[in-house]
Amino acid sequence: MKPAKLSGLSIAIDGPAGAGKSTTAKMLARELRIVYVDSGAMYRAVAWKCNEDAIPLNDPERIAAEAAQISIEFIPSRSENEPQRIVADGIDITNEIRTPEMSRLASTVSVIPAVREALVAKQRALGQAGAVVMEGRDIGTVVLPDADVKIFLTASIDNRAQRRTLELRQKGDATATLDSVRAEIAERDRRDMTRAVSPLRAADDAVTLNNDSMTAREVVEFILDLCAKKTAQQDIER
Ligand code: DC
Repeated sequence: MKPAKLSGLSIAIDGPAGAGKSTTAKMLARELRIVYVDSGAMYRAVAWKCNEDAIPLNDPERIAAEAAQISIEFIPSRSENEPQRIVADGIDITNEIRTPEMSRLASTVSVIPAVREALVAKQRALGQAGAVVMEGRDIGTVVLPDADVKIFLTASIDNRAQRRTLELRQKGDATATLDSVRAEIAERDRRDMTRAVSPLRAADDAVTLNNDSMTAREVVEFILDLCAKKTAQQDIER
């Protein structure tokens, strides 16, 4: 099936930290020439803004007000080696939001219901026109419940910790050890899965994929195959 035929689809990818969602979503977006939305970056942007404005973590009302007011833009990358830029209130925060500290803060602000409400509205607006691949924790369950293709991407905690440690080391973080990263991921998993509003879980109609023994290319091919099947089914139903 030609990519052009698949390019109108909406694809939701959810899963725990370090499962390879971003790599997969970026490759799919490039291949299908559709919009890529990294919803986690939006929680990170709110965390960054609260940190900048010295808002205490025990003040959910002020954190929610920041989430409602913040402007978040995704600037598509121009080449394969260049990341998509994240701009919040006019400031490029692409690198600032990727620290372990911001991972922790983002996970903390993401449990506040009003923060989720504000960001879900922004995410739905970005996904409204279809032709989007959006990744996060609640995309298939809450943000885009009618997505054409839903994937729950997962991998063992050891593999996820190994990938994240490597990523952090490549970014120059010499303090990242496998044990510290594993503990951090386990804590984030616990918080993401046990929060009251939109906890991390697979949508009933999602396909769960454990990629422990798959390459990134194999994961993308698997999803492209699901997209082709979905399109064929939609053609029959029309
Ligand atoms: O995917 P990430 O690691 O960049 O996400 C950062 C945090 O944001 C993560 O701990 C959970 C939260 N998050 C969320 O609650 N819902 C989403 N759709 C995406 C991320």
